[in-house]
Amino acid sequence: MKRIALNTFGPWAVITGASSGIGEEFARQLAASGLHLVLVARRLKALNTLGSELTRAYGISTRVVELDLTTNDALEKLSEATRDLDIGLLISNAGAMLAGDFLSLDYEALRRDLRLNVQTHLDLTYHFGSRLAQRGHGGLLLVASTTGLQGVPFAAEYGAAKAYVLSLGEALHVEFQRMGVHVTVLSPGATDTPMITVSGFDPATMPMKPMTTRQCVSEGLAALAANRAVHIPGYFNRLLATMLPRSLATSMYGNMMRQTITKRSVPPKDILQAMR
Ligand SMILES: NC(=O)c1ccc[n+]([C@@H]2O[C@H](COP(=O)([O-])OP(=O)(O)OC[C@H]3O[C@@H](n4cnc5c(N)ncnc54)[C@H](OP(=O)(O)O)[C@@H]3O)[C@@H](O)[C@H]2O)c1
Repeated sequence: MKRIALNTFGPWAVITGASSGIGEEFARQLAASGLHLVLVARRLKALNTLGSELTRAYGISTRVVELDLTTNDALEKLSEATRDLDIGLLISNAGAMLAGDFLSLDYEALRRDLRLNVQTHLDLTYHFGSRLAQRGHGGLLLVASTTGLQGVPFAAEYGAAKAYVLSLGEALHVEFQRMGVHVTVLSPGATDTPMITVSGFDPATMPMKPMTTRQCVSEGLAALAANRAVHIPGYFNRLLATMLPRSLATSMYGNMMRQTITKRSVPPKDILQAMR
């Protein structure tokens, strides 16, 4: 578990997608550092349960914001819900993957995911980035993915969206340096969260065992504290990302995704409903 400096990144952090997986683990590790937390997602009950648990365990304050980030007024609502708080850190983590043959996927669902996976990062980094620039310290951590390093057949929108997040964060890392604000892109490989199973993967048959959220997040927070532009957690993930030629990586992802969607018993639309 990585602890980060309260006087640099506190007193409050906003975490999107805090109701499960990587976002939930960010909440746990930041709470252990003593940061107060704004927990954002659609599932209110999960957020309330997590908030109460972290308040009991660490004596921190939490504010729960039930929000669908794909709605038109999402930024306005989040801005209003956090106006009175001194925010030192944004963890822009919420994301979703639609896996399947491109043309078999629902077009409106693809557009919603694009909005979540791309526009939300732009909106939140602009909004909280302006607040952090004014106070002259703090951090923005954007969660991308190693899928953003090349095209990903059968998850084409997802991979392309993550390429956007990677590029956005890399650029902002340079721009925000002069304002004293850390910007880090965390690009995990396969990580053990509900996203893996909901997308149809069987962790037992994946070529590499998914990483724990604990390792993924503690590496991410260490990279943020050190103000690294991009961090891929896990030695093997880093090795693959640097050694594999892009075209080979695309075909490797394509094979893995094709096998997954062929084997899975639940069609994409039902998977999508399970995620909502
Ligand atoms: N797991 C992996 O292998 C992996 C690898 C690389 C990158 N990532 C990235 O890591 C991030 C977290 O994913 P995860 O693996 O932790 O998956 P997860 O457990 O499914 O978590 C996704 C989070 O995003 C939230 N979310 C989804 N749609 C939303 C919406 N419309 N509005 C608000 N919140 C929404 C979900 O909350 P609600 O459902 O309650 O709204 C949930 O808290 C994502 O950006 C993902 O792309 C994951």
